[in-house]
Amino acid sequence: MALQIDCDEDGSIGLDEFCELYIDGKFNAAEQESLVEAAPLLKKLANDRNFFGRFVIDSLTNNLSDQSDNRYGVGSLILRNLGRNSFLRVNCWSSHQDFEYIKKPDAFIYEMAHDHNFNFLTIGYFGPGYLSKYYEYDYSDLDGYIGESAGLKFIKERNLKEGDILLYRALQDVHEQFPPESMSVSINIMDANPAFQYIYQYYFDTDKNVISHVMSAKSSPSIFEIAGALNDADVDDTLAHISANSDCDMTRYRACKALVKSSNSEAEAEQRAKLGLDSNRRMVREMTRRYVSSVLQAS
Ligand SMILES: [Fe+2]
Repeated sequence: MALQIDCDEDGSIGLDEFCELYIDGKFNAAEQESLVEAAPLLKKLANDRNFFGRFVIDSLTNNLSDQSDNRYGVGSLILRNLGRNSFLRVNCWSSHQDFEYIKKPDAFIYEMAHDHNFNFLTIGYFGPGYLSKYYEYDYSDLDGYIGESAGLKFIKERNLKEGDILLYRALQDVHEQFPPESMSVSINIMDANPAFQYIYQYYFDTDKNVISHVMSAKSSPSIFEIAGALNDADVDDTLAHISANSDCDMTRYRACKALVKSSNSEAEAEQRAKLGLDSNRRMVREMTRRYVSSVLQAS
């Protein structure tokens, strides 16, 4: 499971001092060892029981202007940029009884096992904490297609209680979260190296122990769908070129799928599908095969 870090630090520091010490200490969130070394500092911040309340008051009185770059979902607040592609974030975890959960339960990614394509160090700050089932897997073993056997190994389940510190290791730890018994808050030091956007993030079906969904930020599926729908010969040539040559398997697949989907006849669709079915990349072959068979089933 995510690496548990024991820390009996009982000192306390505020948000400004934390940021100064973290930045001056030249911690590097891209390195797991460095995040482990930052654990006592994070514990000190969490020992300040008032800093988050003060932050919320400041944020509210400034019309949340400090959250304009926040691309995360409901319940996440960006506290500070920490430099070196890292930042400090707070997550609020709604329980079954809380309005945010009742309004939009999918917003919290509860009961969806997933990995992370970045490291982060987390500490339980408030409340009983979310429950997680923890697994481990080997990213390098996977081609990355939906339905692929994931080799998840169940480790244990536990809550992230107040003061608990865990290091979530990129491409190694998987967890499936469940709502806490009451509203809970955790603080994260996040690794935001842009390179991670080019690495897949997976969701898993833990019953079947397979990949159930692949997240890839390298290309947008909708732009391919739109391009295919144009039925323009030059655009189609470009899609075919991308499908054969992109350095990203998911991008190859999305280009191929757009061509198949926009075909004007069954024969054309079969011809275009060969781009993916004959690919030298297994991920592309399997995703195309899966898509083609789903289309056939639907027709
Ligand atoms: Fe997660």
